[in-house]
Amino acid sequence: MLPYGRHSINESDVDAVVRALCSDFLTCGPEVELFEREFAARVGAKHVVAVCNATAALHLAMKVLGIGHGDRVVTSSNTFLASANAAAYVGATPDFIDIDPEFHNLDPRKLESHWKPDTKVVVAVDYAGVPCNMPEIARIARSRGAYVIEDACHGIGGGFEADGKSWKLGGHPWADISTFSFHPVKTMTTGEGGILVTDNDEWAAKARLLRAHGVTRNPSDFVGLVDGTNHTSVCNSQLSEVGPWYYEMQDLGFNFRITDLQCALGRSQLQRLPEFISRRQEIAQQYNEAFASLEFLTIPSLASGDPLPATSSDFNFSLVDLSLHLYTVQIDFARLGKTRTEVMQELRDQGVGSQVLYIPVYLQPWYRRTFGYAPGKCPNAEAFYARALSLPLYPSMTDQDVQRVIDSVRDLGGIPAAVK
Ligand SMILES: Cc1ncc(COP(=O)(O)O)c(C=O)c1O
Repeated sequence: MLPYGRHSINESDVDAVVRALCSDFLTCGPEVELFEREFAARVGAKHVVAVCNATAALHLAMKVLGIGHGDRVVTSSNTFLASANAAAYVGATPDFIDIDPEFHNLDPRKLESHWKPDTKVVVAVDYAGVPCNMPEIARIARSRGAYVIEDACHGIGGGFEADGKSWKLGGHPWADISTFSFHPVKTMTTGEGGILVTDNDEWAAKARLLRAHGVTRNPSDFVGLVDGTNHTSVCNSQLSEVGPWYYEMQDLGFNFRITDLQCALGRSQLQRLPEFISRRQEIAQQYNEAFASLEFLTIPSLASGDPLPATSSDFNFSLVDLSLHLYTVQIDFARLGKTRTEVMQELRDQGVGSQVLYIPVYLQPWYRRTFGYAPGKCPNAEAFYARALSLPLYPSMTDQDVQRVIDSVRDLGGIPAAVK
């Protein structure tokens, strides 16, 4: 069975983890800092904070931006739950913007026309690894005093062109904070893991503090345990003596730490990232060519940049910029005369797994119950959900695996073998 996504682990990955396993540190050791440094260099970011998963990274992003009750956080209707849940964790109201029908990303035109004055953050999600029009989203958000978080969990190592330059996700000026996920189905993995990226010194320092219970051991940050006590003076009170054991909890943080084992794997996977990206591109290109003529199916748009008349800046991308996480087709099930469940079963019978990504988040029972959202809120996202099917895409697929997917999809429409 070919799953829709799968990690790729080789001997160098195993060796890296075993080396970390036999070292002095299983967590909070040197691998974490090295992974952060190497990831920062890869995307061209100033600060990188590695955490236990990208949900935690999004949660920390909300905390460091000071988001809370009374604030609205808008995100794409076509995303994983975490992009919105992070806002709910801090007491803000998650809200949803419809997607553009071509790239299935948050539509900047809808963002502008549906803007509400209490919106403090826009979480732009790069669905499948296809980048959002970040210059346009940033123009709309920043001119109204809101922050931009780019949920780039699907697009590790990818990028786009804007203002005549090439930019990496996580390394461009149109997001205040970016987040990436290293879950095993993603482009590279640490088992579980995530990263928060920012150029802002203060936010990075706060994210580091909150990652580990809000605790600092850095003497220059100490404020003391006793009111009015100067911690640097030699104190007559035992309570305010600052010795080598001393630490302070300065904020209510979390245990969002990532281990050295995970970061050792991350460093090794980072070396292999270019190879992962190019194999994914190759497979997507083969699929696009094989499926282009199928009338019951719409292939993803992977190379045609700007769905908008650019206002603030030129914006473009092509397959070569993309780090693809998903290959999602849209199937006209009525035309095919089959339900999606039947189609998925037929593919399964051929050893081909598939997945539906995503159910519009606001349709989930908790969101409807808590915020009163109802069907019809984002028609493009609902139409996309009704037809979406993600097919296997991962670097360890062989040419035979790819051909099996192609043949199985063509078989759905009863395309005779001679025409294949
Ligand atoms: C778009 C998006 N955002 C956030 C997340 C959360 O990532 P993690 O599983 O690392 O918490 C995911 C994971 O599937 C995702 O796809």
